[in-house]
Amino acid sequence: IRAEMTVDKDFQIGEVDKRLFGSFIEHLGRAVYGGIYEPGHPKADGQGFRTDVLELIQALQVPIIRYPGGNFVSGYDWRDGIGPLEERKSRLELAWRTIEPNRFGLNEFVDWSKAAGSEVMWAVNLGTHGPEEARSLVEYANHPSGTYWSDLRKSHGYDKPHGIKTWCLGNEMDGPWQIGHKTAAEYGRIACETAKVMKWVDPSIELVACGSSNLHMPSYPEWEAVVLDHTYDHVEYLSLHQYYGNAEQDTPLFLARSLQMEQFIASVAATCDYVKAKKRSRKTMNLSFDEWNVWFHSHEADTRIEPWQTAPPQLEDVYTMEDALVVGCLLIALMKHADRVKMACLAQLVNVIAPIMTETGGKAWVQPIYYPFLHASLYGRGQALVPLVKSPKYDTKEVTDVPYLESIAVYNEEASQVTVFAVNRSIEQPLPLTVDLRSFGTCSVIEHLVLEHADLKAVNTSGDPDQVAPHKLGNAKADGTVVQAQLGKASWNVIRVS
Ligand code: AHR
Repeated sequence: IRAEMTVDKDFQIGEVDKRLFGSFIEHLGRAVYGGIYEPGHPKADGQGFRTDVLELIQALQVPIIRYPGGNFVSGYDWRDGIGPLEERKSRLELAWRTIEPNRFGLNEFVDWSKAAGSEVMWAVNLGTHGPEEARSLVEYANHPSGTYWSDLRKSHGYDKPHGIKTWCLGNEMDGPWQIGHKTAAEYGRIACETAKVMKWVDPSIELVACGSSNLHMPSYPEWEAVVLDHTYDHVEYLSLHQYYGNAEQDTPLFLARSLQMEQFIASVAATCDYVKAKKRSRKTMNLSFDEWNVWFHSHEADTRIEPWQTAPPQLEDVYTMEDALVVGCLLIALMKHADRVKMACLAQLVNVIAPIMTETGGKAWVQPIYYPFLHASLYGRGQALVPLVKSPKYDTKEVTDVPYLESIAVYNEEASQVTVFAVNRSIEQPLPLTVDLRSFGTCSVIEHLVLEHADLKAVNTSGDPDQVAPHKLGNAKADGTVVQAQLGKASWNVIRVS
């Protein structure tokens, strides 16, 4: 088997918005407490932020981080997380059945995000709260001064407004598991009215309405159509969420899941365009894929966690090499839809279904999925180019015509570099690849990074953190305007060309 790819700098999908490489921190498990925040840890700074974790996040150059949930946000009172620590209350947290101590809240997250080099994407509670609490929150965070909420922020030591630009109107409101679950019409109305008052407080903000929690929700895609009917003129983005797993141990199918992600994106975009046509609107609704990842390893262990603990080890998936390949394919799928998907959040970032793991009181290390995310974030910025691919294909029980080669090229005009991201989905054979870069003139290969492992189930642990790590020994070679490479079986490849 062999594959060919042709890329041309004039065949453009669209500019990759840097926010495609966003992530997510929820008050869940050990994401905050014992993850990003651990006063008393030897590597904690003066505010209790773990600098070892910050360094791993800084390296990823995550442009935006969604917070504080997730399911958590639908029962969260943001006012519990501001003001002097000694006055903050502990609360029963009903989404994940824990105790939330509220030691870390809005101002801490804004400070932490700055240290991480990221913008904040704040989700408001539309489960138990409504327009009033959301508009007060925007006033507290973004209004300069002279009002109750803005002066309260100043009294908390934050003289300048935080200027939070991106806000999610609730979380997964279509799901019966959600605190304050709503029908599409109920949600559409409250989202519309909340959007109006939030923007009246600060017209510069951008809003994300909740789409479906996943492709299999019975209300999908009617949910999208009804919600947008109510909110189209008031929001800039519609959200998508989807997680993937391999409980059935069918690796070829697992590796094909990114094709389903692409279909999901295409059908949500089509639903947005249907509402656009219905409303005779000139505005195109963009998409925010603000929860995506592999998630299944921890499902069983999570059923055994005792309720009402603070920061128990929830959703601590230990990721394999195989999962890293799937994450690589999902990243390629997102880049292939850069014309429409402007934001995406790898869910999540630390300890909870995360690329970064910590021991409370101990070390921090990275999981295999860290690496494709790192490479895409560092080298996937620029113009996404149409991947004209010829590849042999295979069938699975759910997805057919799956190309062995999954790939995209991104052109960074400023640096005069093209990066080809390529996964060989074959778990049996290497895949020789020819990339025709005809419009770029004579090329040279800067480096060919590879993530691969003889054992697809290999993992990284605190004791053996480098089991799965990329190497630079890929054999890509340029000859004039053509690059040839051998993609190892089941490998993630990053071929950087200038
Ligand atoms: O990311 C974990 C959970 O998955 C989030 O809290 C929720 O929004 C989704 O169901």
